Amino acid sequence: MKSVDQEEVARRRGIYFQGFGIYGGISGLYDYGPYGSRIKDKVVRIWKEAMLGEGNIAEFDGTSITHPQVLKASGHYDRFFDFLVECTKCHSKYRADDLIEKKGVTAILDKQWIQNKLEELKIRCEKCQGEFGDVKIQKLMFPVEQGQDLEPLYLRPETAQGMFINFKEYYRFFREKLPFAIITVGRGYRNEISPRRALYRLREFNMMECESFFDPRNEKWIHEPENTHSVTFLANDGKEIKATPEEVYEKRIVKSHPMAYFMGLALKFYSDVGIDLTRIRFRQHRKEELSHYSSDTWDAEALTDLGWVEITGIAHRGTYDLSSHINSSGKDLYAQRVIPKKEEIQKKRVIDYQKIKSESLENSAKIIEAIKEGKSDLIIGKDKIDLTRFTVEEEEKVVVDREDFIPTVIEPAFGFDRIMYTILDHNLLSREDSGYVWLKIPYSVSPYDAVILPLMNKDELGSKASSIFEGLLRRKFSVLYDDSGSIGKRYSRYDEVGILYCITIDYDSLKNGDVTIRHRDTREQIRIKVEEIPDYLGKNTWNGKTS
Ligand code: ATP
Ligand code: GLY
Repeated sequence: MKSVDQEEVARRRGIYFQGFGIYGGISGLYDYGPYGSRIKDKVVRIWKEAMLGEGNIAEFDGTSITHPQVLKASGHYDRFFDFLVECTKCHSKYRADDLIEKKGVTAILDKQWIQNKLEELKIRCEKCQGEFGDVKIQKLMFPVEQGQDLEPLYLRPETAQGMFINFKEYYRFFREKLPFAIITVGRGYRNEISPRRALYRLREFNMMECESFFDPRNEKWIHEPENTHSVTFLANDGKEIKATPEEVYEKRIVKSHPMAYFMGLALKFYSDVGIDLTRIRFRQHRKEELSHYSSDTWDAEALTDLGWVEITGIAHRGTYDLSSHINSSGKDLYAQRVIPKKEEIQKKRVIDYQKIKSESLENSAKIIEAIKEGKSDLIIGKDKIDLTRFTVEEEEKVVVDREDFIPTVIEPAFGFDRIMYTILDHNLLSREDSGYVWLKIPYSVSPYDAVILPLMNKDELGSKASSIFEGLLRRKFSVLYDDSGSIGKRYSRYDEVGILYCITIDYDSLKNGDVTIRHRDTREQIRIKVEEIPDYLGKNTWNGKTS
């Protein structure tokens, strides 16, 4: 098979293309066209169905514009940046740690260390060999102005935070039982230093994230890690093994049960959307590579024409996010566990009626009411009354059978756009002899069920083809109609976007009431009766509809 220029096919056929093309485009911003949008919709639905099918996962749909306090608490405000170097001659910009890693040196994320290393390794601009200026810090979050001297808001760099700050909503929804998980499909925004390689490094991208919550004393998912798909695991101690998620968990190469579980779920999902599992591996982060919130991360990486690229990150976020939001907001984001009953002395403040009476205050009724409402002071006219003066601390014996704890979090974060890039990379094939290109994606992610092609643009063929087209639309099949160009060119058009069936109406169709169905991959053609088309497609459509 010859290699195919994915970006060229994607642009020509309306799968994806650079955004704002008529104004010259903006790097790192890409749009999905008529075919890409449909493929995206199906991939996302397969992912959601896999997740929601677990039974203890629910969906969250939150805003992209984010309160700055959330991002201060999460650590993104201070710690989400990359090291930038700019060529003094041609002004090309690079991520400094990338340049160092390309020289085979593991970069340490420290500004001075990076500056020294660039000089020591004599690293120059890749485009013009020019020298670099000083290493600078580039913050990765996009601010959104609020105006009127207000602090800016930010576009979210990850969808995860909305799921943490709303933990309590979901805790109640799941009747206060762990484990459970929340998923979000939505956009993330990062002001990447050098957005490039089409969908690989975008400034606005699509995330499919899952936050799963556990009692740290029992950090297990509800199902066992799967034992069907075997891929390579690269641990950060240098161990390499080809195994299933169940095996790596049993051998404690992957120590976390939920992480191993989500690895299996990811493999099944990749396979369902047409990713070749022989080109997938899991790689554990080195200690110095871990994000600020993670104690252990395994990336799923796919081998594409760009080399090995991360498509999903599975991180152990521990209690990092919930603790930070508890500290920062002062709000209760705890779960509770049942413990053996025990007696505890609890202190509480009660109203000191004696004192109120002894001072014979004219506002005593108002004071008592305000204390009951939990207020600590009360303003009457120009006076501010300190209410704590009228309370006393009392000790009380209570029986406790529950205690608060902060749940730990395992997060599988899937990047849709890199998954899309991988699906196209693994499935855009080209015949060695003719260079003929076709997209061999599974029917489940194919953009349309079929295309209706009248052999020629002639009235009788057109009206027969239109009535078949209308009939299939009424039965809720997703079909296209195309009568322009030679039949060969039309087959090629739809092969390149991965549509499995071309239904051709020819002169025999008028006589015999049948059509030709051509298969994308085998190029075989069979004839079936018009009435049989829905059943034929129905058997194969991704959601199994037959009528
Ligand atoms: P990288 O190291 O390549 O920048 P990352 O480690 O920052 O990626 P994560 O923060 O783990 O990536 O994000 C989760 C997923 O989101 C990634 O696996 C990837 O699929 C996707 N992703 C992250 N950044 C981008 C981006 N700029 N463009 C497209 N997808 C992205
Ligand atoms: N939420 C995972 C990440 O953005 O890295």
